[in-house]
Order: sequence, then structure tokens, then C-alpha cells
Amino acid sequence: MGSEFKKIESFYGQLNTFRFEADVYDCEVFGEIPKELNGRYYRAGPDRQYPTLDGDIVINGDGIVSMFRFENGHVDFKSRYVKTERLLNERAARRRLYGKYRNPYTDDPSTKGTARDNTANTYGFYHHGRLFALREDSPPYELDPDTLETLGTCDFDGTLAAVGMTAHPKIDPVTGEWWGFSLFSQKKFDGDMALQVIDKDGKFTRQEEFHAPYPGLSHDFAVTREHVIFAVMPLTVDLDRVRAGGDFYAFDPALPSMWGIMPRDGSTKELRWFKAPGKFSGHIMNAYTEGSKVHVDATISAGNGFRFYADVDGNATDPRDAIATVSRLTFDLLSNGDEVESVEPFPGAIGEMPRCDDRFQMSRYRYGFMKTPEGIARLDWDTGVRTVHAIPDAPGGAQEPVFVPRSPDAPEGDGFVLCVVNRNAQNVADLVILDAMAMDGPALATVRLPFNQHMSFHGMYVPD
Ligand SMILES: [Fe+2]
Repeated sequence: MGSEFKKIESFYGQLNTFRFEADVYDCEVFGEIPKELNGRYYRAGPDRQYPTLDGDIVINGDGIVSMFRFENGHVDFKSRYVKTERLLNERAARRRLYGKYRNPYTDDPSTKGTARDNTANTYGFYHHGRLFALREDSPPYELDPDTLETLGTCDFDGTLAAVGMTAHPKIDPVTGEWWGFSLFSQKKFDGDMALQVIDKDGKFTRQEEFHAPYPGLSHDFAVTREHVIFAVMPLTVDLDRVRAGGDFYAFDPALPSMWGIMPRDGSTKELRWFKAPGKFSGHIMNAYTEGSKVHVDATISAGNGFRFYADVDGNATDPRDAIATVSRLTFDLLSNGDEVESVEPFPGAIGEMPRCDDRFQMSRYRYGFMKTPEGIARLDWDTGVRTVHAIPDAPGGAQEPVFVPRSPDAPEGDGFVLCVVNRNAQNVADLVILDAMAMDGPALATVRLPFNQHMSFHGMYVPD
């Protein structure tokens, strides 16, 4: 091939590439699968078909979607590449054609006019009976929810106005709506963004453009029952740098992160932007409104939390500046100032990939879940207690945890935490199933895959 696969740096340390699709019928199970688990756990992640250019980043890998299928105490596993235009083009050429992340100036000339950015690698997301592989700058790819075969890109019958949709949508547990946004919604790269709302049946009800204060990364966002919150980070785009073959984003330490808040039933014209200097956020656990205060629980680092990007001078990020702690940002809508009111770290909550009991999205809630350096943690916002399921023999191996309620009307937090753990030394991967109310106890069950797992970013459990 003329080049070789190299490990790539990510949240999970140094990663290999795997390059295979799998079907494992009746996975090996230790313990007993809870009888309440009947459904499908989808995840999406990057896995490179061909070696990337030197210095490229983990986010640029080809999307692969996996599914754990739970049925009466048994679990089947399946993974499939999303057959994106770029993957199929590279396979036909039997070599890499596409260069760096979001940099068409590094591509083979034969790719001109093709969908070079849509790797479909970020979120296996299910809504109105359809499965999508999301990638934040592009239209969703739709997959068959049973076979994971690729059906094609989805523009909602031609109604998608922006160039793409975020890979961090929120489902309103009350209305069933799909809330999202588009970053660089018209590819102007001047902070052009759009709010997007799809009803429970899959029809757009809102598409409203606006401009962020600067053209920065906006990876995740938040919705409450009363407000929408957009988070813009000082990883800025410079088209001159891109044209010169450089990185799409670079961290600008002179800029504060910006948090735009608008009334949920209002207009993007009502957005009010707050600054949070020295507070970088990658992901949001949940958010809620309490009177005039808006609380956003997010991973917060002092510097560039996505450390695979360099700063605007080309310097690598000091890993200490990238360490994230889940923190509560509070914005006071009655204040006259333009800064966040407070940023309170949850004690000890270092880590990433925060989630909550999704039935409590957008509202005051009690429990959050996340990956930590030592394993998987539950945060109890009422007591401030953090409970850890330690995985000492697989340090850093836990991926994003998801919570599954025991039943649709079970109390908040009553249910199970599912989390894939890579056991690199043994070359296997485990899906551990924990009792969410006894996180520090032993796993209820462990589903073993007889091979290691590519990293996944985000996923979703869909009950039958
Ligand atoms: Fe993400």
C-alpha cells in the first residue's frame, strides 16, 4: 500500500485499526443477562479502511456501526462498515484517496465533487423507527436496523436545508422530538449554524439559521424544557491554514468558550451569548432550567480537551490541560453580565463520555454516568457522591456507558449500565452489564467478544 497503519491518539489512548466486520451468534456470557434486557444496543465509531496521512486524527476514521442484540438472555453481535461514498471509492481504488480530516486540499484529485467528509462514524442513533449513523458535518447515513446494511444518506425527502446535522442530537422524552443543530450549516465557516427540530414522525418542524460569535467547534449542545443552549469552543477554523494543507481546527487559547442561550419556543434571534474563559467542553451530560438559572453539566477542561488538535501556533496540547472534569455551569439570565455565573466541578469526576438516564433529558435529574480513568462512574448530583465500577485490569478500557431503565416507568436510575470495555492485553472486549444502583458491585453479566473492539464514540439502546 506504500504506507502503514499507525496507532492514533484518542480519548482511549493509542488505538489500532481493526478493519473487519463481525457476526458473533450467541456470544459467550458470564453471569446472567437481566431478563428485562430485550432490545438492541447500537454504537458507532471510526475504523480506517486505509492508512491515513501522518498527523491525521482519530475522528477521520471510516464509520463502523455495531449492534448487541439482546433476546431472552442471549446476545448476538454484529458490526458493519457504513458503506459511505468515500469508503466505496477507496475500496474501488484499493488505496487511500482522501487526506486529512476536513481538508479537501489533501485529497487525490479523482475525488473532486464527492462527499469526502461523511465518514458516518460518530453516533448510532435511532429515531422514528430508523437507524442512522451520524457525523456532525454531513447528512445522516441510514442503516437497516436489523442487518446494519447501508441504505444511503438521508435528507428527509429533500427538506434538510443545512449541509449536515450534529452527531449529538437530543430526543425530547416528552414530545419524542429530535433536537439538533448544524455547524457551518452553509459551509461559510464564519460561524454559520442552524437549529434543527424534527418531530416524532421524522418531519422537520424548525430550521433556523444564526451566527456564532466566532467560527469554532460546536460538538455537543443542550436543550431544557425552557431553553436551547449552543456551546462554541475555541477550536477555530482558518481557511488559509486548510488551503495550505493544515488542520481544519486549531486551538486558540486567547478565546473564551461561548455559550448561546435562547428560549426554546423563541427564535435564534434571541440568542444571548455568555463567555466562559478557560473552560473548554467536549460533551454535555444534561441540562435544565431552574427559574432564571440555566444549569449545564458538561465535561470541562482548562485547555483544549480535544487534544488531537494542535494550537494555532502548531504546538501540541499539554495533556494536563486536556483533562476533563464533569462540572455544572450555571448561567443567570437575569444578570447584566456576559459571563458564566459559576462552574462547579463534580468532586473527582474526571473522565469523558457523560450520559444520563435519557428519560430525564432536559429536566432536573439526579444520576449521570461516564467513563473514568479507573472504570465507569455514576454521579449522584443530589448527594455529590461518585460511585465507581473499577476495572483495574483494563485501565482506560471503558468506552461510553449507556443507561437502560429496568422498565419504562422505573424510578430514575433504576436499571442497568451497559459499557464496552476493551481488554487490550487479552485481545478481547467485554460488554459489562452493571446494576446502576450497585455500580461498585460485581457486574451482573459480561458478554465477551473474542476479539478486541475498535473504539466507538456514541451509542444508544433501543428496547424491543
Ligand atoms: Fe461526541
